[in-house]
Amino acid sequence: MPMTQRDIREYYEGCWKQKAEQAGGREQLEYSSPVEDAVIYPAYERLIADLDLRAQGGRVLDVGCGSGRWVRFFLDRYRPAFLMGVDYAQASVDMLTRWCADGDVPTEFRQADITAPSLDLGEPFDLINVANVLFHIPEQDLFLQALRNLARLVGPHGRIVTTEYLPRATMRTDWMLVRSRYEFEAAAAQAGLRIAEVRPSAFFSNDPMGIDGPDPFVRGHFQRVRAGMRQILEARLDDTTRLFFTNFLADVERACLAFCNEHVSPTDAPSQKLVVLAPACHCS
Ligand SMILES: C[S@@+](CC[C@H](N)C(=O)[O-])C[C@H]1O[C@@H](n2cnc3c(N)ncnc32)[C@H](O)[C@@H]1O
Repeated sequence: MPMTQRDIREYYEGCWKQKAEQAGGREQLEYSSPVEDAVIYPAYERLIADLDLRAQGGRVLDVGCGSGRWVRFFLDRYRPAFLMGVDYAQASVDMLTRWCADGDVPTEFRQADITAPSLDLGEPFDLINVANVLFHIPEQDLFLQALRNLARLVGPHGRIVTTEYLPRATMRTDWMLVRSRYEFEAAAAQAGLRIAEVRPSAFFSNDPMGIDGPDPFVRGHFQRVRAGMRQILEARLDDTTRLFFTNFLADVERACLAFCNEHVSPTDAPSQKLVVLAPACHCS
């Protein structure tokens, strides 16, 4: 049965509750693949530098903060003036208040639904991060409301960075509704946002749903590589061998992305991208 926002919320409440019970410290909150992080973190840092995004000294909001993967990214690498993390799962908010709210940077973790029409998070933000959230909102009215809220929450010179796939055709899996690049752009425009930049940020390490590739034959190749990658990372390995494979797979990933960056338009690259949204320009 394809999930709804309500199913997703229930799932993540349980997921983050279990994570909170198991975690003995901030470093144990890891949730994503180490190969994926080894590639997307430097890509995000480059994006921040190239576009002069205000991670340093700005008001930063992380929507769908989950296990705090991006909260840690911003706190470990930058010094925002203020960092707020919101998630509609209370378990995430409790976990991050416990493990991520004790540093020098003023932080606040708040239970909030990005699709709520009356959402009020105070002053506008300079940088809003929305990683792996929007494809979990299959209901079109809620999706549009989420984009409208983001447009309202971002300052006039601020930017929203969201992780998207932007395939040619919309694809539905049990867990995701991945809107086509055309639908995504039209919805963003309807909410008063424009796509300012697209940067490929993963190749094999993301997208286990196999949504990339024009047909099942191509998608099959991607899925087999991803399955092999998962098998290696989940295998019982000593630390040296694990480190070797993590670095090796990250290098494979970087090589594929470097090739794409030279020869493929960013939107046509497979798998996930960092998509920067800016307030639409109303100048004539
Ligand atoms: C796939 S996880 C991503 C977590 C984190 N951003 C990351 O990239 O690792 C999706 C997160 O978004 C949250 N979420 C989904 N829909 C939401 C909504 N409408 N409002 C706030 N949070 C939402 C879920 O509770 C979950 O924590």
